[in-house]
Amino acid sequence: MRTPTFRVTIGRYRSGPRLRLPPHRASSATLAGAYPFLASPSCDVGVPVGQDALTGGPFCFDPWALYGAGHLTNPNVLLAGVIGQGKSALAKSLAMRSITAGRSVYVPGDPKGEWAPVAEAMGGTVVRLGSGLPARLNPLDAPEGTEPHGPRIRLLAAVAALTIRRELGAAELGALDAALTLAERRHSAPTIGGVLETLTSPDASAARADGVPVADRSADGRDVAHGLRRIVRGDLAGLFDGPSSERLDPRAPMVVLDLSRLGSDEDALALAMTCASAWLEGALLVSTAKRWVIYDEAWRVLRHAALVRRMQSQWKLSRAHGIANLMVLHRLSDRDAIGEQGSEARSLAQGLLADCSTRVIYRQESDQLDGAAAALGLTRPERDLLPVLPRGTGLWKMPRRTHVVHHVLHPVEVNVVDTDSAMRDDTEHEDR
Ligand SMILES: Nc1ncnc2c1ncn2[C@@H]1O[C@H](COP(=O)(O)OP(=O)(O)O)[C@@H](O)[C@H]1O
Ligand SMILES: [Mg+2]
Repeated sequence: MRTPTFRVTIGRYRSGPRLRLPPHRASSATLAGAYPFLASPSCDVGVPVGQDALTGGPFCFDPWALYGAGHLTNPNVLLAGVIGQGKSALAKSLAMRSITAGRSVYVPGDPKGEWAPVAEAMGGTVVRLGSGLPARLNPLDAPEGTEPHGPRIRLLAAVAALTIRRELGAAELGALDAALTLAERRHSAPTIGGVLETLTSPDASAARADGVPVADRSADGRDVAHGLRRIVRGDLAGLFDGPSSERLDPRAPMVVLDLSRLGSDEDALALAMTCASAWLEGALLVSTAKRWVIYDEAWRVLRHAALVRRMQSQWKLSRAHGIANLMVLHRLSDRDAIGEQGSEARSLAQGLLADCSTRVIYRQESDQLDGAAAALGLTRPERDLLPVLPRGTGLWKMPRRTHVVHHVLHPVEVNVVDTDSAMRDDTEHEDR
């Protein structure tokens, strides 16, 4: 008997050489174990995303509905793929379509400044941070009716750990705690500058009450003070040290924190995201309205253990507050994407990846396939699809179901999501 051959055809893409396989008969339930694309029921609840490339039918997505129906173990989504494949375009149209369905969207750090047009199109708010710009955020702001000391101390410790590039010791945390307590006693709305003052001139009676000579307390706080000084006098001076100029309206359909004017300094970006996330956290956690929190270009912040730790604790709380996190990365396994092998940042980042029960994978470079397959638990056919996915098409992997989906952009969305316009003039448009 002749060995049957077949080609995989997905949209405009046709697979390379013909596969030669011996014939095999089994029930569809059994086959689905070996070839999971066969069995997934259609996904038709939620906002439309595009076309299911295997059935030709529509593909819709709503992480809350799927989570509520027990199909997902959490509403978080990981979106990974090489640059230029349409990850941001997908995230942006999910955001816009979800807003029209009554959800809201927060983008807690947009390093490329590409989300502002989306917020503007949707009647949302854009907070632009950078030197020379008027916006100021006080990360020590606390929402009314909440206990402020704990979140403030965690924020200050994270900022100091980022700038001095190590975790704080017990004595340093003690000095920081005493300094914050004194600053809180002096001002109902303390600032990082106020904490820096009380850190460098500690209160003698408080130190005595803690059984620490005041000279030791000053010494304990010295490195932490150096760390916090970057926010007060360094390149980020003014941005996070003073009363907030912006109030977050919890009813705004979309809020984008545009960090593109901070330049390309990774540390400044991580610090700004840490401070900004503290400011956002207050607003997020007082409501249970369903929202997306979207981390585009998340690889730029995943290398910083202190920041990932904050993200992780936010993610733990987020389910109770109706939040679905969407994290956009380009690669899944290498050092540039998620930190050095064996580092704390890497294991924390892997914890975040594990906490995304929907994984959308766009085209991957061939050297990334094994890493991606291992990190995401992909089957062989799923892995083999990754290097040949065309732009806008991704493998959507959820527990017990897999889809290949071509994201269809509406003409109205095209101008808002287009990041290629700077790469071409109006007469030529080359598909990359
Ligand atoms: N589904 C799609 N259909 C058509 N064009 C798309 C699609 N997705 C993305 N594009 C275009 O591809 C370009 C790159 O997309 P982008 O989302 O910025 O990629 P990434 O975030 O993966 O680097 C954009 O100009 C966008 O308009
Ligand atoms: Mg992008």
